[in-house]
Amino acid sequence: MSASDSVEWQRITDLIKLLAEERFRSGEELGERLEISRAAVWKYIKKIEQLGVGVESVKGKGYRLKNKVNLLDHRKIQSLFVPEAAIEIKALDVFASISSTNNYLMQKENIKGHVCLAEMQTAGRGRRGRAWVSPFAQNIYLSMGWCFESGVSAVKGLSLAVGVSVINALAEHLESEFKLKWPNDIVIHAKNQQGYQKLAGVLIELRGDLSGFCELIIGVGINYSMHSGADVIDQPWIDLQSLSEGKLPDRSLLVASILNHLSELLVNYEQRTFAFYRKQWESLCIHQNQLVCLSQADKLIEAKYFGLTDDGALILIKETGEKLIFDGGEISIRRSQ
Ligand code: BTN
Repeated sequence: MSASDSVEWQRITDLIKLLAEERFRSGEELGERLEISRAAVWKYIKKIEQLGVGVESVKGKGYRLKNKVNLLDHRKIQSLFVPEAAIEIKALDVFASISSTNNYLMQKENIKGHVCLAEMQTAGRGRRGRAWVSPFAQNIYLSMGWCFESGVSAVKGLSLAVGVSVINALAEHLESEFKLKWPNDIVIHAKNQQGYQKLAGVLIELRGDLSGFCELIIGVGINYSMHSGADVIDQPWIDLQSLSEGKLPDRSLLVASILNHLSELLVNYEQRTFAFYRKQWESLCIHQNQLVCLSQADKLIEAKYFGLTDDGALILIKETGEKLIFDGGEISIRRSQ
């Protein structure tokens, strides 16, 4: 982001904060507060609307936001780190807009303990090459860099353990029944319908020497309060807003909790391995006693979910009794028994 872009983003976020208050503010007052002309205020209001943030405009009164916007607060996030996390988190970058928080860390060096957050992503990425819908100030887009000394073998099952950690963080603030769908989708049982709705996902990317020192980027996307841009999502989804019964926790508070849990997980993972998380993962998963369908490349395998190995691989049992073990693939539930 260039210097002029960052000034522009600062103005936009300052304006959003002013407009977020209950009362209307006139163009003149906004201009005075931000030290810009009324024409510039109008230009920034248009930009805010283009971001999907609705602005109510009433003649003679002025402007205010249509819906509440809860912007990320860098200082607040840092102040909520537990001491152990504060030691591990070496840098915290918060952007108004970025291509992808994972991409940002991918371009950096020495990423252990480097965290990137953004209000929006212009090229957010999901697993399996899918796009991750990332509208402005409506969700959580978080990436954290880490490194392991003993190569990829130390990373086995990590993305599943991250799913458990994110659920533990969310459960500190919300009472919903968060569940896991293999390998690391966080889902909620859909009310009044069969099936599950996706709330959050994890994308881990690796670089470096796969048998020695390797670095990884842990990306977490959580639907917080998504009211625009979601029409392109091709699977059932849900956000925290619809689960919170009017008590939606502050976004910065949730981010800090997630980072506290993630730091604890990462510091101990090489020694603990996935074996430490396996039981909790299994207790949270939606596949118990289910016939599932696993798609892998061009193969489709229908079998019964049996559990996970201590490496986080999926164990399925065929009708014949044969046990199958899988490291990757997409799973869907066929029917319950
Ligand atoms: C999935 O497909 O379930 C994984 C989604 C991961 C999305 C997050 S948002 C923050 C980080 N930056 C990205 O571009 N992707 C991850």
